[in-house]
Amino acid sequence: MALQVELIPTGEIIRVVHPHRPCKLALGSDGVRVTMESALTARDRVGVQDFVLLENFTSEAAFIENLRRRFRENLIYTYIGPVLVSVNPYRDLQIYSRQHMERYRGVSFYEVPPHLFAVADTVYRALRTERRDQAVMISGESGAGKTEATKRLLQFYAETCPAPERGGAVRDRLLQSNPVLEAFGNAKTLRNDNSSRFGKYMDVQFDFKGAPVGGHILSYLLEKSRVVHQNHGERNFHIFYQLLEGGEEETLRRLGLERNPQSYLYLVKGQCAKVSSINDKSDWKAVRKALTVIDFTEDEVEDLLSIVASVLHLGNIHFAADEESNAQVTTENQLKYLTRLLGVDGSTLRKALTHRKITAKGEELLSPLNLEQAAYARDALAKAVYSRTFTWLVGKINRSLASKDAESPYWRSTTVLGLLDIYGFEVFQHNSFEQFCINYCNEKLQQLFIELTLKSEQEEYEAEGIAWEPVQYFNNKIICDLVEEKFKGIISILDEECLRPGEATDLTFLEKLEDTVKHHPHFLTHKLADQRTRKSLDRGEFRLLHYAGEVTYSVTGFLDKNNDLLFRNLKETMCSSENPIMNQCFDRSELSDKKRPETVATQFKMSLLQLVEILKSKEPAYIRCIKPNDAKQPGRFDEVLIRHQVKYLGLMENLRVRRAGFAYRRKYEAFLQRYKSLCPETWPVWAGRPQDGVAVLLRHLGYKPEEYKMGRTKIFIRFPKTLFATEDALEVRRQDLATKIQATWKGFHWRQKFLRVKTSAICIQSWWRGTLGRRKAAKRKWAAQTIRKLIRGFILRHAPRCPENAFFLDHVRTSFLLNLRRQLPRNILDTSWPTPPPALREASELLRELCMKNMVWKYCRNISPEWKQQLQQKAVASEIFKGKKDNYPQSVPRLFISTRLGADEISPKVLQALGSEPIQYAVPVVKYDRKGYKPRSRQLLLTPNAVVIVEDTKVKQRIEYANLTGISVSSLSDSLFVLHVQREDNKQKGDVVLQSDHVIETLTKTALSADRVNNININQGSITFAGGPGRDGTIDFTPGSELLITKAKNGHLAVVAPRLNSR
Ligand SMILES: Nc1ncnc2c1ncn2[C@@H]1O[C@H](COP(=O)(O)OP(=O)(O)OP(=O)(O)O)[C@@H](O)[C@H]1O
Ligand SMILES: [Mg+2]
Repeated sequence: MALQVELIPTGEIIRVVHPHRPCKLALGSDGVRVTMESALTARDRVGVQDFVLLENFTSEAAFIENLRRRFRENLIYTYIGPVLVSVNPYRDLQIYSRQHMERYRGVSFYEVPPHLFAVADTVYRALRTERRDQAVMISGESGAGKTEATKRLLQFYAETCPAPERGGAVRDRLLQSNPVLEAFGNAKTLRNDNSSRFGKYMDVQFDFKGAPVGGHILSYLLEKSRVVHQNHGERNFHIFYQLLEGGEEETLRRLGLERNPQSYLYLVKGQCAKVSSINDKSDWKAVRKALTVIDFTEDEVEDLLSIVASVLHLGNIHFAADEESNAQVTTENQLKYLTRLLGVDGSTLRKALTHRKITAKGEELLSPLNLEQAAYARDALAKAVYSRTFTWLVGKINRSLASKDAESPYWRSTTVLGLLDIYGFEVFQHNSFEQFCINYCNEKLQQLFIELTLKSEQEEYEAEGIAWEPVQYFNNKIICDLVEEKFKGIISILDEECLRPGEATDLTFLEKLEDTVKHHPHFLTHKLADQRTRKSLDRGEFRLLHYAGEVTYSVTGFLDKNNDLLFRNLKETMCSSENPIMNQCFDRSELSDKKRPETVATQFKMSLLQLVEILKSKEPAYIRCIKPNDAKQPGRFDEVLIRHQVKYLGLMENLRVRRAGFAYRRKYEAFLQRYKSLCPETWPVWAGRPQDGVAVLLRHLGYKPEEYKMGRTKIFIRFPKTLFATEDALEVRRQDLATKIQATWKGFHWRQKFLRVKTSAICIQSWWRGTLGRRKAAKRKWAAQTIRKLIRGFILRHAPRCPENAFFLDHVRTSFLLNLRRQLPRNILDTSWPTPPPALREASELLRELCMKNMVWKYCRNISPEWKQQLQQKAVASEIFKGKKDNYPQSVPRLFISTRLGADEISPKVLQALGSEPIQYAVPVVKYDRKGYKPRSRQLLLTPNAVVIVEDTKVKQRIEYANLTGISVSSLSDSLFVLHVQREDNKQKGDVVLQSDHVIETLTKTALSADRVNNININQGSITFAGGPGRDGTIDFTPGSELLITKAKNGHLAVVAPRLNSR
């Protein structure tokens, strides 16, 4: 499918325009990478991607307007230099896919639109290339998206980093530690359905190849009061609901639990056990699976669940007052389950819940508790059990995450990436000890942030050789000192009050505070405030002017919470627990240690100082999360709420520091690369140093000296407007360039196509020529060989057949046969026949015969009956006369005619005399008298039976064929002939001497009619004939010059006939 993209100049969204489907967001690798600056031209609509580019950078309104524009376009990320500001979209924007990860990998921070993954990748690359530990600090108020960001970061590293050579499971463990920690440490609050109720700092260790090999988690100040009490609309920690909702029947039975959360007092306070956005059942499954991944054995899971269940049972322990107002446990069933689940002695536990061990004058006494004290003790135990279990859980996860290769030489070369997901600044209607600690923590982190940002800015200016211009910013060290300073700080005073013998209360603590820090500009109480301010402060409150704003704390509960008191006998009971986890959580050494344990505030302070040290030792990166509204709704931008967060996240301060002198800085190479097309001297390639190229470029663009500074490796631009003007010029230039590139590309494309076609044509041509040439050569070779064979064969043609002459001989034969076809005789008379080669002589003769027979046969088949008769007669004539009579040859070309006299020439009388006898032939003849040899004209008629001689109208003589004994003629050229008649026949007058001009014809027909072909005598010299009864005559024939027929003196008829040459 062809992908069409439409570039929306935000630099982030690419719309796929599909012909059949509605527009859809295309993300990741489908998209086109757009450089960050390309969005600058769309700044009116989508704002700037880096707040440093705000013209009016000191204006909070401009800052918020920029955030709003971007938020409207679903652009939740914006930079302040290297700091990422993130606004919780409260909707799935589909921007964390694998493609997105790939898109942000290995690219320069500023080349891509702002994104969490850009930060993640930059941090990771710094970790790998510089081998310096990194820390990503994620801050923001509850519900702003800190935990989500942490999870996305972890996911990014898990999916994009190479797998370690050994212990690949660490990636899974890192990911799976989250659901477990969230189940035990997160809860639904009014602000966030999945609010982290503890601070978390997680180290991910990478080996020298950049593969995650281990991890470690530090947790801070779990909000354990939630175990026993929740505000309206809030819940206890998720794990309780997950267990009740998802736990198998068998498990619940064993733990003595009912599925209904309403049955447990610790779960009903907030009156919202069910939350639509939370699926406890599926979360339970995830937690169970995760527990296995992070190395929990089945026993450990059982022990852990026993503790969770015991907390619920503890909540349901009720007391009733006896006569002396001492508390007594009334819920035996719960007690029974508790003793079983916690593995403690029942009566000891009962006693511990209703009595307090006190030491008086070295003696230990058990003092009974009243109802209120017993409830307090019970809740304290529940909190202690849960919070210590949580700490144990973190320890357990840490053991599972700990690199198994700690001993290996690689271990020393590991680098660490820290992720800090810690509660943001909190300001409620009523703020107590927890808020105090949390806000102190934020105060510390803000200080660190300012310090480090400022430091890095200064370092960069110094490195670039640019004079540092001091910036005005608020240093909150003064507030930190107010809280943490030794002896004079609020925590010290609180601790002092907690440890002081005598009746110390929250109010005495407040008084002490007023005494000690009354002159501090950031501290205020009812007593210290002026008239106007006093109204807003109760007597039991104090106000701190934090960097982010004022917060009023109520001192109620400060001492208790700081002391975190758990009665000694309860501790003792828990130390004897047979539940292995409890056993680890409550250590006997605690009992023997006479020193008072550190107070909560001090512990927190110490851990914070440690955290600051950890963070200081690392290269920091910041993600500042903002929550757009309190309703958890997508698309809603609550300006008041956001302004508040911008303030207490110190973003304006941050921006001011970043914009200390210059709005924009970029490496010379990057700047030149981007804008070089704007100057003919730098376009398309600048051969010299990038720095010089930038100088030439800036001169060409007409930058004024006050608008920029040239550092060692970077250009610094003072005002965003200068950059925007350059950017706008680039946009115009780009259009030109795009057209040019298109034209060049098209030209190139078509030329490539043409060249390809040309190459193909040449290839085909040469191939064809080659083929032709080869064919010709083969033909020539064949011809030469043939000629050679023919010559050789010709030379040896007379030799017996052998391989040398076989070809020639065959050739001669075939050519003879082939030629013969063309040279066959055309008709029977054509006697021509080609001369055969010696080998074919016999065959040739046979063929010739065949051919002749064939022609004869054909001739015969086509002959007409008349012609056939003619030929037959001619053949008979030939048989009789050929070579015997001189004038025969003259007769050959003359056709025999059927009759020489027509019917009209024969007298009717004769015809009548003949009767029905047909006349087959009639010819005029001359009859020579037998005596005088006088010639008389007569007609000779042939009938089927007889020869009839007619004189005009009279039949003179009729000779029946049976009586015709023979016919005599001379061999000369005369035309006389004698018909011999049977002598015995008296009716006959004797032989007849006749002369016919057509003697051959007449005789042939007569012989045929009379069947006397063999009876024709051809005489030489003379013929004797019978002239009548008893009288013979003789005719003498002599050759002469001309025909002369006379009666000789001897009475013979003398015939002189010329000799014709033809014989
Ligand atoms: N980038 C994001 N995209 C979509 N939804 C988000 C994003 N970040 C946060 N959310 C939504 O906001 C809710 C609250 O976020 P999260 O739990 O991360 O807040 P938090 O800052 O850790 O708050 P807390 O301090 O209470 O722990 C999430 O459950 C999620 O529904
Ligand atoms: Mg959180």
